[in-house]
Amino acid sequence: MGDPIELTPGTGTVDFGLTDRVAIVTGGSRGLGRAMALAFADHGADVVVASRKVDACEALAEEIAERSGRRALGVAYHAGVWDDQQRLLDTTLETFGRIDIVVNNAGMSPLYRSLTEVTEDLWNKVIDVNLKGPFRLSSLAGEWMASHGGGSIINVSSVAAVAPTPAEIPYGAAKSGVQNLTLGLARALAPTVRVNCLMPGAFLTDIAKAWDLDAFGAMAEQRIPMGRGGQPDEIVGAALWLASDAASYTTGSIIKVDGGMVYPSA
Ligand SMILES: NC(=O)c1ccc[n+]([C@@H]2O[C@H](COP(=O)([O-])OP(=O)(O)OC[C@H]3O[C@@H](n4cnc5c(N)ncnc54)[C@H](OP(=O)(O)O)[C@@H]3O)[C@@H](O)[C@H]2O)c1
Repeated sequence: MGDPIELTPGTGTVDFGLTDRVAIVTGGSRGLGRAMALAFADHGADVVVASRKVDACEALAEEIAERSGRRALGVAYHAGVWDDQQRLLDTTLETFGRIDIVVNNAGMSPLYRSLTEVTEDLWNKVIDVNLKGPFRLSSLAGEWMASHGGGSIINVSSVAAVAPTPAEIPYGAAKSGVQNLTLGLARALAPTVRVNCLMPGAFLTDIAKAWDLDAFGAMAEQRIPMGRGGQPDEIVGAALWLASDAASYTTGSIIKVDGGMVYPSA
């Protein structure tokens, strides 16, 4: 028998603050990424906003710095390019000296007309941007954080990971992979680096511009108990929790943020 377990009463004190932490948000210029980047800075973090269109990243970085008084940097970054992951980490370390939080949020799901019209190029792009990049960035930043006291990685998957529609089969496969690598990385980088995944349902971002809104409304009425799509700010509470010490005992978790969506059964 070992030593008796020491039991301590809870104090009810948790810390959602991110003061002086440094966060990378990929795909941070618009949509869910933008909302998370703004919120991280409001809670004390310096933020790197990374996406393909550097002008949009720089404009948001300026807005973040003005609004929060924190430092913010826009960086040109392609989630599907292997070497961009090292470049993004190096730029962050050169500018801010550390990294504490990585949000693998950049993602895309191009439309296709039929299964056989999915080209090899489309397949590779979807897997590269949604799965390959997050693996490489998490590996590089995760090892750095593990050897510098710890951190938090937040991946962003999709309901398509568990309930893919016929229009998003490569994307669903990639996002399912994101959930799997969340579990693997959580084990590999424990106990100091936590790795979790947000699984959004239908959010009203630029992605929604391609939706048939009548069909979406009918689906929402039937299958989303909240009866509507999510607004970008509605991802922020879960992201802040996972990024902060308030989630100190949470790793390898997939957190649904989907208005209670009922998935079609198999
Ligand atoms: N909205 C939804 O209903 C929904 C549902 C489930 C999951 N998600 C997931 O949530 C995440 C955010 O979605 P969102 O709705 O906020 O999307 P969004 O509004 O379309 O924004 C996408 C962001 O990702 C960046 N991006 C796209 N491709 C990139 C690439 N190859 N490399 C780097 N950055 C890239 C975009 O900036 P640039 O154009 O400048 O690159 C932009 O900042 C994605 O992973 C998406 O799959 C969204």
